[in-house]
Amino acid sequence: MGQAVGGVKSALLISLLHGFLFLIAGSGTESPLDSTTVDMSSRRFRAEFLQEWQGSADAPYFDSTTPKNITGLVGHPVRLLCRVKNLQNRTVSWVRHRDIHLLTVGRYTYTSDQRFEAQHKPRSEEWALRIRSPQRRDSGQYECQISTTPPIGHAVFLNIVEPETVISSGSELFIQAGSTINLTCTVRHTPEPPTSITWTHGDQVINFDSARGGISLVTEKGLKSTSRLLVQRATGLDAGVYTCGPNNAPSASTRVHVLSGEHPAAMQQGCAKSSLDKASVLFSIFTFYIFSKPTYNDLEFGT
Ligand SMILES: *[C@@H]1O[C@H](CO)[C@@H](O)[C@H](O)[C@H]1NC(C)=O
Ligand SMILES: *[C@@H]1O[C@H](CO)[C@@H](O)[C@H](O)[C@H]1NC(C)=O
Ligand SMILES: *[C@@H]1O[C@H](CO)[C@@H](O)[C@H](O)[C@H]1NC(C)=O
Repeated sequence: MGQAVGGVKSALLISLLHGFLFLIAGSGTESPLDSTTVDMSSRRFRAEFLQEWQGSADAPYFDSTTPKNITGLVGHPVRLLCRVKNLQNRTVSWVRHRDIHLLTVGRYTYTSDQRFEAQHKPRSEEWALRIRSPQRRDSGQYECQISTTPPIGHAVFLNIVEPETVISSGSELFIQAGSTINLTCTVRHTPEPPTSITWTHGDQVINFDSARGGISLVTEKGLKSTSRLLVQRATGLDAGVYTCGPNNAPSASTRVHVLSGEHPAAMQQGCAKSSLDKASVLFSIFTFYIFSKPTYNDLEFGT
């Protein structure tokens, strides 16, 4: 680019010099032929060099500050944005890389897939591609192209995610009798934090009616919500499948195995010292709403 501009500059200089010599040469005579030659020369100069100069200085370019990596939620509208400066009479298109599919040209949507839509306000620099109900398979590379020769492109990566629930221990947890069952359930990629996260043991909902004491539950809600279940002094009765069920995301389960320890006596001794042991029914639920309006930094919910 710099080199090209330099080239144009020196061509300009030579041309000016050329015109100047012409003027000097022609200054002695007043012949109409010479003035015509000078006139033609300067016209050609304007036509050839100024246009070339203008072409490189005013070439269209992308505003590189627009996001290049967009995360969206399954089923929630998402917008890929492209901002073009100096577009002039060129056209902006959106292309999907996966199958080199032309999705939009200018303000027109070219694909038969009704979920895609070209968005552009007259005289604005923004050329957006909106996907009304994105699916996982829409994830991948997209490119905004300007119809220069050769065309220039601005790539945007789209990542479509769906609500996800994970229990940190995985599908199985082995613990010694007398120790604490500690399960952490994490819920991500939901449009809003879950309003409830319910734990069940087998088919029993773990709640205030549970006869067993020594259970606590701590829930934190936000962009990523977590619920931690602690079951103290586990016995064989506490073994089985534990399920974490958020109201707006799939459930996740883990199977807990309670092993009779190698040193059960030592464990029981340890337990006896605990004041918790004296309480026949101790059940507590703490719910901390560390809740602020979720700021999906990288999630764009469409307009
Ligand atoms: C885009 O961002 C996501 C997380 O926000 C990341 O996992 C992924 O690797 C990024 N992709 C690219 C191509 O930068
Ligand atoms: C844009 O305009 C220039 C003249 O200013 C012309 O040479 C060129 O073909 C036009 N390009 C398009 C895509 O219309
Ligand atoms: C439960 O496990 C988490 C890590 O998974 C840990 O940070 C936390 O301290 C544990 N809580 C108890 C009471 O053991």
